[in-house]
Amino acid sequence: MSLHEEIERRRTFAIISHPDAGKTTLTEKLLLFGGAIHVAGAVKSNKIKKTATSDWMEIEKQRGISVATSVMGFDYDNYKINILDTPGHQDFAEDTFRTLTAVDSVIIVVDIAKGVEAQTRKLMEVCRMRNTPVIIFVNKTDREGKNPFDLLDELEAELKIAVRPLSWPINQGQRFKGVYNIYQEKLDLYTPSKQTVTESVAFNDINNPELENYIGQQDAAQLREDMELINGVYDDFDTAPYLAGQLAPVFFGSALNNFGVKELLDCFVKIAPCPLPIHSLEREVDPEEESFSGFIFKIHANMDPNHRSCIAFVKICSGKFERNVNYKHIRLGKMMKFSSPTAFMAQKKETVDEAFAGDIIGLPDGGGTFKIGDTLTGGEELHFKGIPSFSPEMFKYIENADPMKAKQLEKGIHQLMDEGVAQLFTNQFNGRKIVGTVGQLQFEVIQYRLEHEYNAICRWENISLYKACWIQSEDKTELENFKKRKFQYMATDKEGRDVFLADSGYVLQMAQHDFPKIKFHFTSEF
Ligand code: G4P
Repeated sequence: MSLHEEIERRRTFAIISHPDAGKTTLTEKLLLFGGAIHVAGAVKSNKIKKTATSDWMEIEKQRGISVATSVMGFDYDNYKINILDTPGHQDFAEDTFRTLTAVDSVIIVVDIAKGVEAQTRKLMEVCRMRNTPVIIFVNKTDREGKNPFDLLDELEAELKIAVRPLSWPINQGQRFKGVYNIYQEKLDLYTPSKQTVTESVAFNDINNPELENYIGQQDAAQLREDMELINGVYDDFDTAPYLAGQLAPVFFGSALNNFGVKELLDCFVKIAPCPLPIHSLEREVDPEEESFSGFIFKIHANMDPNHRSCIAFVKICSGKFERNVNYKHIRLGKMMKFSSPTAFMAQKKETVDEAFAGDIIGLPDGGGTFKIGDTLTGGEELHFKGIPSFSPEMFKYIENADPMKAKQLEKGIHQLMDEGVAQLFTNQFNGRKIVGTVGQLQFEVIQYRLEHEYNAICRWENISLYKACWIQSEDKTELENFKKRKFQYMATDKEGRDVFLADSGYVLQMAQHDFPKIKFHFTSEF
């Protein structure tokens, strides 16, 4: 197969949802269709249970599972599908944000009863920043939920994206009869079973009186009425706005009952984008360029506390990656080759000889070789953009609790930050180190890992902060004035950039008001 054909057939995407909407269940069903697994229940949930915040064995175990299930590749209908898994627990949202930088499209799962939830909204913001194409799967139609038209309005308003149903539910809950597949002009009838495939009838004219034979008079009348409204309100589906991230096709179904999943997949492979050009600081890189390039979007620490080895996940942006070929690690300015790169097929990790743009490979890293955002190329100086850090929401001073282990602590903190576990700021006023996270759980993870992997003990001290934001201004005098006025609240991030630590929303608002020439950024990518 030519490079062009290899790249054209790749679909690299993530499934995202608020916890419990059905992401794990949907992933599992997709793998079943790909023949990647053969029984339901084979995919272990990558979510850390809400109750388990202090159950370390459980978290460690689940972290181990999530290495295996982080990327799931399989072939389906001549397409090579790569699903990137994202942690369900919202305290690991940062990890999810980064994963989204490595995908070409996204499927969002929404619970029909709950509609758009907090985490869905937040993840959609990240998709919108990058104009990532999204398809929405409204799940759990076998349960009573919202009116589908109300739900479409909610999706549009809350996710700030135009929507277009490509399937439509026929009733719901106990009276759920199936969906009308608008995309394929079929009637998909519901048989509640967890293992069998839907019964489908070609049905291109819903005014055909045979409809009554399948779904009864009342539901047939309702479906006709609904379809008339849909056709009146929504434009015909067009892939261009979808690919531009402006229009989300919507499917309805029940992942648990394996209903509507194949229809989703069949449409997805047809319309979802193959690997797209990626911006580097220097230029736009086309996936079909011969020369290999890629970036590290995730680093996963190994389970074994005696060996501090990691797996660095590389998204291949262009060309072909080959085992044992020299590539340039741009930040270190060093040529390196890799003897045991792994690919992720279904549930297994295996060594691969080659991989193509769109694929994710894992590179074992024994000693802090990689940081999130590092670029590898065939030799060209490229730096890929697009690994934003988000303004954290929780802050604590980190202190050394064992004076004999200061060095270990220092090293541990820096390596964990390179892995992207949290963000480190140094207060310019008192020199103290502040760790910023998106959730309480990270503080516990950091403390635990420092102790078990680096033999260092840390102590947390509370600090009351509202937000950390990166500041920037063309007007150097204004910037200096600001820094002088706020000197107690100025910090630097890992890269030495200026960060303002606002202790309340009011203070931040006033600062924005008093210093109009200063830009306050809430993500590190600006
Ligand atoms: P998540 O990864 O998004 O967090 O969700 P997950 O797939 O784990 O699903 C959350 C719960 O919703 C699970 O139930 C799952 O069985 C259920 N579920 C998923 N899809 C459907 C569906 O189409 N219909 C219905 N009725 N339920 C669905 P649980 O009781 O929390 O877990 P389990 O004991 O069933 O594994």
